[in-house]
Amino acid sequence: MKTVENASVVSMANLTDDVYDITIHCPEIASWAKAGQFVELYPDNGANLLARPISICGMDAEKGDIRLVFRVVGKGTELFSRLGTGDKIRVLGPCGNGFNLKDGSAVLVGGGIGVPPLLETCRQLKGDKTVVLGFRDKSSVILCDEFKALGARVYIATDDGSLGFKGNVVELMKSEGITGDMIYSCGPKIMLEALSDYAEERGIACQVSLEERMACGIGACVGCVVKIKDGDGWTHKKVCKDGPVFDSREVIW
Ligand SMILES: Cc1cc2nc3c(=O)[nH]c(=O)nc-3n(C[C@H](O)[C@H](O)[C@H](O)COP(=O)(O)OP(=O)(O)OC[C@H]3O[C@@H](n4cnc5c(N)ncnc54)[C@H](O)[C@@H]3O)c2cc1C
Ligand code: FES
Repeated sequence: MKTVENASVVSMANLTDDVYDITIHCPEIASWAKAGQFVELYPDNGANLLARPISICGMDAEKGDIRLVFRVVGKGTELFSRLGTGDKIRVLGPCGNGFNLKDGSAVLVGGGIGVPPLLETCRQLKGDKTVVLGFRDKSSVILCDEFKALGARVYIATDDGSLGFKGNVVELMKSEGITGDMIYSCGPKIMLEALSDYAEERGIACQVSLEERMACGIGACVGCVVKIKDGDGWTHKKVCKDGPVFDSREVIW
């Protein structure tokens, strides 16, 4: 079930220089949303820009709010960054499949702006939780304390070593021997591919959320296809409709 709502902005804040934290009121979407799903935000400047996919970082069905955390990279996200409390924004959602939450010990692995959807996932998971987050440097670290507040064991890796482990998340996981029953992950494709190998070598099930570039966002074009194993061959699947979450063993990297 998905719908378009004319949402109003409840709050807006900066997490870092270029990362914004926005809560919007869209009761229907908030009541249907699942962890790992995303919404499509429509830039409203008359420039006819396509909607932009942003993952759901938090949801409160009672209040009718969803929380999104996004980095400014281009025209659309720059427009969103100018929104303030009380402004309106058109939003389509909830989109995509979301994570398949399982009992047992969970390892949540996020890279950069792939971290936000893992926060709601962490909140909903009930068992033992280990969180491994990777960032460029100390100044780009986001949401770390919120994972800790949810009772998770949190490990941080930075490329330059300015906070936590120096290196990437998979190197950190190898060095700490991190394991669990299920990995939930989101981040750059190169990170997810290395993580997929890590999981396969250790027999750990792994769900990857792919943040492919999108066009229509609703399954009507082929702007977001990825190759997924199918019997002895493979087939194309759409990240916006069949994903963004896939079993890592099915993805042809
Ligand atoms: C399922 C999904 C969930 C996402 N969740 C989030 C999120 O929670 N927070 C967040 O900040 N971003 C998220 N993204 C990425 C976000 O959609 C893009 O950054 C955004 O659409 C860029 O729009 P723009 O108009 O600002 O930039 P554009 O002007 O369209 O592009 C600017 C630059 O960003 C690059 N770019 C655009 N889209 C992507 C993409 N999907 N991946 C990598 N590079 C891209 C372009 O190649 C270009 O270099 C998600 C993407 C997907 C597919
Ligand atoms: S973006 Fe058009 S099919 Fe996915």
